Amino acid sequence: MSYLAKNYNRKKISFKYGKGSFLYTINGKKYLDFVQGIAVNSLGHSHPKLVKTINYQSKKLWHVSNAFIIPEGEKLAKKLAKKTFADYIMFQNSGAEATEAAIKVARRFFYSIGKPKKNRILCVKNSFHGRTIAAIYASGSKKMTEGFGPKVGGFDHFKFGDHKSLKKKITKNTAAIMVETIMGEGGIKVMPDLHLKELRKICNKKKILLILDEVQCGIGRSGDFFAFEKSKIKPDIVPIAKGIGGGFPIGAVLMNKKVAKGMTAGTHGSTFGGNPLAMAVGNSVMDIIYKKKFLNNVKNISQYFLSNLNKIKEIYPHIIKEIRGKGLLIGMQLHVDQNKFIKKLMQKKLLTIRAAENVVRILPPLNVKKNEIDQALKIIKKVCSELK
Ligand SMILES: Cc1ncc(COP(=O)(O)O)c(C=O)c1O
Repeated sequence: MSYLAKNYNRKKISFKYGKGSFLYTINGKKYLDFVQGIAVNSLGHSHPKLVKTINYQSKKLWHVSNAFIIPEGEKLAKKLAKKTFADYIMFQNSGAEATEAAIKVARRFFYSIGKPKKNRILCVKNSFHGRTIAAIYASGSKKMTEGFGPKVGGFDHFKFGDHKSLKKKITKNTAAIMVETIMGEGGIKVMPDLHLKELRKICNKKKILLILDEVQCGIGRSGDFFAFEKSKIKPDIVPIAKGIGGGFPIGAVLMNKKVAKGMTAGTHGSTFGGNPLAMAVGNSVMDIIYKKKFLNNVKNISQYFLSNLNKIKEIYPHIIKEIRGKGLLIGMQLHVDQNKFIKKLMQKKLLTIRAAENVVRILPPLNVKKNEIDQALKIIKKVCSELK
């Protein structure tokens, strides 16, 4: 009998410990973990540097209120600002909090310049920005909002990639466009650089803000620190979470100085957001991700993984429909049932997770080794051969 609420459909398996790319069950079975807490454990399980950081910081100071200056948070904010488009950072604890705070930043900016009616946020239909009450209505998904009325207003929607319909949806009350740079839950749909450039152009022309949700695809997951970097555009606001904590709950909103002006003292807060323990871990994650060659390695290993997955697809075109993704945010769209495929992978000790559009999502840690990728490829190929 479990006293946990039934809001998850949990697999009947429990883990005792993890090391790097592997998880070990309570009865000693070893699994190659290509879920990594859904893109959270960016450096794998129990990374020695993160273990050291937590041990060290936990003996010093865990938590103080944001009523005081927190040097570890100042340090992490500086690192994020120096390495990215952002001028200011606001720390949270999760992705949904970060996306909601991003919406607050956008609305508050227009309020601060005397345009309080400019408060509507234009999002992609069936996107994913989290599970809080506003975030589900931002996502515009019937499945997520059913039974959670009354509807939270202030959101409009357009179809992914359909910029004609997007332009029609912009009104004088639109404050921002908010999109995932790579749709994660939605089936690993990469927003092409051309679309990102066009979005920036539209936002500039209409004098509205661009929010890029990099909760899942950010922090090196795409092979660049941010997935939008190749497009050379600069967003105004970027919510992040997942990978920045390497497994420790951290969320944040990155913003430029123009929009930051609206966030005056008292306009937003979080009891836990940015506490010394979380910030110490975030600093260590940043130091590792920005080590020379780290992101290059992500790109190289991603290329190797993607090209070999495509080779398997060529052998089994009736099973694999499409290989999608960027960096180590990879999706395998199937012709066969995704759940059956995932179950078979799991029986062969490879953990993956589903996404929309019958996609199997594959999320190795960013420091995954080539022989671990080979092991996964072998299992995927074997499952394809068995399903044939
Ligand atoms: C793009 C995106 N935004 C927001 C969220 C919500 O993050 P969290 O589950 O930490 O609230 C997620 C989670 O998967 C996500 O993928």
